[in-house]
Amino acid sequence: MNRVFEIGALNIEEMLEFAEKFSKCLSIGDVILLTGPLGSGKTTFTKGVVKGLGGDERLVTSPTYTLVNIYNAYKTVFHVDAYRIQNSEDIFYLLEGELEDDEGIFIIEWGNLVEDNFEGAIKIYFDYDEFDSRRLKLECGVEAKVEQIRRCLNNG
Ligand SMILES: Nc1ncnc2c1ncn2[C@@H]1O[C@H](COP(=O)(O)OP(=O)(O)OP(=O)(O)O)[C@@H](O)[C@H]1O
Ligand SMILES: [Mg+2]
Repeated sequence: MNRVFEIGALNIEEMLEFAEKFSKCLSIGDVILLTGPLGSGKTTFTKGVVKGLGGDERLVTSPTYTLVNIYNAYKTVFHVDAYRIQNSEDIFYLLEGELEDDEGIFIIEWGNLVEDNFEGAIKIYFDYDEFDSRRLKLECGVEAKVEQIRRCLNNG
């Protein structure tokens, strides 16, 4: 069963701050599936994660056309957009080698489209709230992982 962690409604600065903190809770090999409607903040959130991991957030752009962007940071970040990929298994094959070798952190926008391929993933859901904020929720099928992240966020 999935454990849910309500993060609440955040404006853009708060969301970037949260993403930075969240990045410190990640381990190599983690897969983060970002799900939410068009323009709900998935790429912006990725900027915060990359910054938190010591990378240059200005290099973070939507991987819509490239399929995968790779950012150098303390941990390499693979940033993928599942939207254009018709067959959800393709995304798994696209990253297969890197996933097997735990080469970094994997962030997948439109993660709902491929979640069947990534069972232990950390899922973050985005939704519109007040016009200047987004409501975030974290979910993970691995109970221990949610607890680890919750503790890490509370201590950070
Ligand atoms: N927490 C937030 N509060 C308010 N505005 C935000 C927030 N996060 C992002 N935005 C703004 O929403 C717009 C879209 O953000 P972003 O590109 O990150 O969304 P996305 O979910 O990646 O979109 P897409 O579905 O096209 O991939 C940007 O103008 C961004 O500045
Ligand atoms: Mg995006």
